[in-house]
Amino acid sequence: MRLLVISIIILQVGLVESLKEVSGYLGDNVTLPSGADPSWTLSKIEWSIFPNNTWIATSRNGKKSIERFYRYKGRLSLDTTTGDLTIHNLNRQDTMEYSVDLDNTAGQDSANKIKLTVTERLQKPTIRTAASIPENGGCWVVLQCSSADQGVEFTWQVEPSVATDINTQDRHGSSAVHVAFLNTTRSDVQFTCTSSKNKENNTCSVTPHCSVEPTPPVLPESRCRYGLAVVGGAILGIFLSAVVMYFFGEKIKAVWGFITGKQRQSNNSAETEA
Ligand SMILES: *[C@@H]1O[C@H](CO)[C@@H](O)[C@H](O)[C@H]1NC(C)=O
Ligand SMILES: *[C@@H]1O[C@H](CO)[C@@H](O)[C@H](O)[C@H]1NC(C)=O
Ligand SMILES: *[C@@H]1O[C@H](CO)[C@@H](O)[C@H](O)[C@H]1NC(C)=O
Ligand SMILES: *[C@@H]1O[C@H](CO)[C@@H](O)[C@H](O)[C@H]1NC(C)=O
Repeated sequence: MRLLVISIIILQVGLVESLKEVSGYLGDNVTLPSGADPSWTLSKIEWSIFPNNTWIATSRNGKKSIERFYRYKGRLSLDTTTGDLTIHNLNRQDTMEYSVDLDNTAGQDSANKIKLTVTERLQKPTIRTAASIPENGGCWVVLQCSSADQGVEFTWQVEPSVATDINTQDRHGSSAVHVAFLNTTRSDVQFTCTSSKNKENNTCSVTPHCSVEPTPPVLPESRCRYGLAVVGGAILGIFLSAVVMYFFGEKIKAVWGFITGKQRQSNNSAETEA
């Protein structure tokens, strides 16, 4: 009786089709797991696509055939022990559902479905020291982070944190500017830019230094030197100057506010005293 129940369960498990999701990157390889019981000795493996079950890779009694469908010619490898199928050099059209039918030498069978998604890998952002403007005891550094990917979000991390820094991100999402005041005594401040999109992210870090000489004010110091796009340099320069001017402007205002506040305060105390 118990044996019968067990065989029924095994039979049912064998017939169940589960949908497993696998994702791979464009141009990379991905292995679709057959889901075969490791104890099985496979006698038949049939990988197919489309509702009409077009075979793309098969192995029947040791006879392997992996050049069955033009779209996958030269891009497949089939592991006849595990039943796993590897697709090489992934392209966008590979995004679809794959079915596998398996038989073992004991006459049992099983089937599985795998949903493959092919996505583009997020590229490493690049950081450029756009400007380094000396000021008493340090310098203002203007860092620009950009990415070859469209529509990414940028975040900056500064380690250890410095008191004055501001962030801006342009509306089209192709770059983000970070302005910070770097004390000459601090040469170990690391600026990290993270670009992220669809739960994926990539980072680049730089440790800029204040140049001792007041001129020239531009430092090309950067650790991430990946194919820098020289796009609209002049326009960018103007934009960055505007950012710095804006920030200096704020600072001047703050200092002015502080001075006038002090005056008002002393006036007030003068009045109370009188
Ligand atoms: C993809 O597979 C091919 C062929 O086996 C191999 O030469 C290549 O290094 C693999 N690429 C990656 C990123 O693993
Ligand atoms: C199966 O369907 C695919 C796509 O719908 C088609 O390209 C292919 O010719 C079909 N194969 C057969 C044998 O009908
Ligand atoms: C730079 O740092 C030193 C101490 O590390 C501090 O005394 C000095 O005021 C700082 N200078 C500026 C301009 O913040
Ligand atoms: C970047 O991705 C990793 C996992 O891939 C995650 O742990 C981390 O929090 C992410 N960082 C940001 C800033 O999104």
